[in-house]
Amino acid sequence: GGPPGVGRLNHVAVAVPDLERSAEHYRTVLGAKVSAPQAVPAHGVTVVFIDLENTKIELLHPLGADSPIRKFLEKNPAGGIHHICLEVEDVRESMAHVSSYARLLSDEPKIGAHGVPIVFLHPKDTNGVLVELQQAIPAEDS
Ligand code: CO
Repeated sequence: GGPPGVGRLNHVAVAVPDLERSAEHYRTVLGAKVSAPQAVPAHGVTVVFIDLENTKIELLHPLGADSPIRKFLEKNPAGGIHHICLEVEDVRESMAHVSSYARLLSDEPKIGAHGVPIVFLHPKDTNGVLVELQQAIPAEDS
């Protein structure tokens, strides 16, 4: 019973105008674990992952002319929080439930940067925050 619930905060995505500089800031000023930049052409971004103990921060930088991050940085030249990502057990099940309350940005789940299904909710229906729902990767049997 009850609506399909959300689980962990998977990541907070931050759009940045200078990826090198931001990565260096997290590494040297904050002492965080910072990945090498990874190009994700399907999503028009280059990503740097900041591994925290309980979640991740993803630094997003535009890749290609049609990058969705380009417009965001035009409006927010210093960068800013672009979206938050919450884990759900089954994206399709969550979409079926959530779509009665909030607009979805796609009719079908997309394959996200981590190779698992995701969907975005319209920020106007979620208090001005772009929310990504990502299918949780089941814990591996040990
Ligand atoms: Co994301």
